[in-house]
Amino acid sequence: KETKLWGGRFEDSVSDAVERFTESISFDKTLYKHDIMGSRAHAEMLQHQGLISEEDRDAILKGLDEIQKQIESGEFIWRVDREDVHMNIEAALTDLVGEPAKKLHTARSRNDQVCTDLRLWSRDAIDSIVSHIKHLQVALVKLALENESLIVPGYTHLQRAQPVLLPHLLLAYVEQLERDAGRLLDCRSRLNFSPLGACALAGTGLPIDRFMTSNALGFTAPLRNSIDAVSDRDFVMEFLSANAILASHLSRLGEEWVLWASEEFGFIIPSDRVSTGSSIMPQKKNPDPMELVRGKSARVIGDLVTLLVLCKGLPQAYNRDLQEDKEPLFDSVKTITGMLEVSADFADNIKFNKERIREALPAGHLDATTLADYLGMAFRTSHDVVGKCVAMCLSRNSCLEEIKLEDLKNISPIFEEDVYEFMGVENAIKNFSSYGSTGSQCVSLQLQHWVRNLHLD
Ligand code: ARG
Repeated sequence: KETKLWGGRFEDSVSDAVERFTESISFDKTLYKHDIMGSRAHAEMLQHQGLISEEDRDAILKGLDEIQKQIESGEFIWRVDREDVHMNIEAALTDLVGEPAKKLHTARSRNDQVCTDLRLWSRDAIDSIVSHIKHLQVALVKLALENESLIVPGYTHLQRAQPVLLPHLLLAYVEQLERDAGRLLDCRSRLNFSPLGACALAGTGLPIDRFMTSNALGFTAPLRNSIDAVSDRDFVMEFLSANAILASHLSRLGEEWVLWASEEFGFIIPSDRVSTGSSIMPQKKNPDPMELVRGKSARVIGDLVTLLVLCKGLPQAYNRDLQEDKEPLFDSVKTITGMLEVSADFADNIKFNKERIREALPAGHLDATTLADYLGMAFRTSHDVVGKCVAMCLSRNSCLEEIKLEDLKNISPIFEEDVYEFMGVENAIKNFSSYGSTGSQCVSLQLQHWVRNLHLD
């Protein structure tokens, strides 16, 4: 057995069970690129500060290039007995370039190294998720543009409420996604500080320059407190919180589209490209991708909970428990990325069943609230009057616009001939005019905003 990099004081080697239990290489090799990035910046700084020679630095940088190539071509052998990504790369570098590699870990600990890697990795992951959010927003705005004047029933409590324009509903998701992207970018700017040089927890007496490595790695500044730097994973919790909120939005979209694809609603027709069948029922065509978007939100929320529970009992500073931050982080990013991709794909592959939606509109008295506004009485009185009209409809199985003027006048003398301009979903939509409402002009302003914002013009 190879001696561990930390093996100096040990007489015996760890048991196989401990080795298997404590390793993280099986998952943290994902960090290799960012680990190498951090090592490059660290080696440059060590040389600049006179802590290693130019020759040592060059040997290290060349060796790191070679290792990166080997990893990317699949030649590199990841060894469980070398525990994690940091020691695998350092030990391989030593195999490759010898003595100079042994100087790379000067004024560095795996404790500052691992959270440097994680912050760099998270930064890239956030950029990628935000660009996936934009793609989904574009897909939703395109659907809105294609169905600009389509009226659909709006629901509260999943009961018929008021008519809305379909773009209005779709743009509600676009707004929610925009805040999701905003939360991720806020998190990005808060996490973009450098732990490198915090070493194990207390910093170092060697003349390092933390500002130099921070700059080289594109961080805003070095973290001010070395104990804080190695100890906290609040940036992971914040990232996973933003993902969990995003996942809950996507899950609601999933739920809505699954409902809308059902025979009972029949409002959307997903294409074969985004549907799957049943192994027993030959007629089935299921909206599985959106069901799984709903389902996988559970994992993303679970990943956040794992992190919160993981960290809540830890004393300062680094504790090995923190190694458990990685799988939830990686899982959350991978899962949310898939959810976003598939939601955009689904949006690109559905048609709205206009016929079915039109047939559905007369049910549920969607125009009742508009009618109450028409009456112009104290609202509670209008509410009561229209309530009586609805009761009349229910007893006759008719809609509001089918009630004769004399019957209306019997309920309230205020009704006049022009009341019919306020009934029916088209008229109801025409009547909306408040900022942010579902009136055609207002929705068209919203659409223009998103066309510009997403560069679709
Ligand atoms: N694999 C470890 C982790 O992910 C790296 C840091 C280990 N540090 C230590 N002192 N054992 O957290």
